[in-house]
Amino acid sequence: MSIVNIKEAVEILKKGQPVALPTETVYGLAAPIDNAEAIQKIFKIKRRPLSDPLIVHAANLEMALNCFKEPSEDLIKLAKIFWPGPLTLVYNKSDIISDTITADLNSVAVRIPANETFRQIINEVGGPLAAPSANFFKKVSPTNYEHILESLPNLDVVKGEVSNIGIESTIYEVSTQKILRPGHITHKDIESIINKEVTYSEKLNTPGSEVDHYQPESPVYVFEDPEKLKNFHSNYSELKLPNLAYKAQKILYSELRRLDKNNKPIHILYNPLWTTEDWLGVKNRLQKAATKWIKS
Ligand code: TXA
Ligand code: MG
Repeated sequence: MSIVNIKEAVEILKKGQPVALPTETVYGLAAPIDNAEAIQKIFKIKRRPLSDPLIVHAANLEMALNCFKEPSEDLIKLAKIFWPGPLTLVYNKSDIISDTITADLNSVAVRIPANETFRQIINEVGGPLAAPSANFFKKVSPTNYEHILESLPNLDVVKGEVSNIGIESTIYEVSTQKILRPGHITHKDIESIINKEVTYSEKLNTPGSEVDHYQPESPVYVFEDPEKLKNFHSNYSELKLPNLAYKAQKILYSELRRLDKNNKPIHILYNPLWTTEDWLGVKNRLQKAATKWIKS
């Protein structure tokens, strides 16, 4: 593996080899959407089943809208407000999107990342890049380049900023008005733009999402009661989450990765007062990471 600069990344991508790139949410493993072999390599490197569709990343609104078939007014409104940023929009795909990218669905997931380096690379490659998070399937997403050095040492990576959002983008399906994956942009944020009710169900799973996702090797226990947290195991690592959702989501993955090295159970306190919608993203990732959720 090596750290590559922007020019080198563009050359490698053009040759059909995936490259890990920084985004504001988590680092992605990118390949050009029109290179079928490169897209196949993403699945292979991640050990990801072909039934789990990829997110397409565009550099500007025109490029993003070209990925959809007749985008609706709501879609365009949301795109103009939230892009570049951590919102992925799902809608009918256009002919430029292959069935491998969408896992044979008729819809495609698209976003414009806020990270300027990523957008510059898209522009220089000359078209959209599909990019899932740059981690093994079901494991914890990377939020800095060192995470990639540690877990996928054979990859080429562009060293960029630490991902300041820290969890994956919100996924919103425009035609059903449903949040498929909660994130930094909330259903209220979306409702305020389209003036329609948006639903999110904690039980609803996006295609390819499994119950045991985002998991470190060490078992994760989430406690709602600090007393139970102290007495459950005699020897454990404790992940202390900040009391503000945006701060908690920013450190969540790097802390899980750091504590995982202790080879001890990881105990996390989830304060039952964290019920506001800004906590849904963190709560969702913890539910998926947790071996056990111990209520108060
Ligand atoms: O923040 C992010 O979204 C990051 C960065 C790299 O942009 N990417 C990311 O990709 O989290 P990934 O592959 O880890 O998650 C993609 C998920 C799929 O697992 C699936 O649940 C959903 O996006 N998805 C993709 N295409 C879809 C579609 N057509 N319909 C519904 N869900 C879709
Ligand atoms: Mg992922």
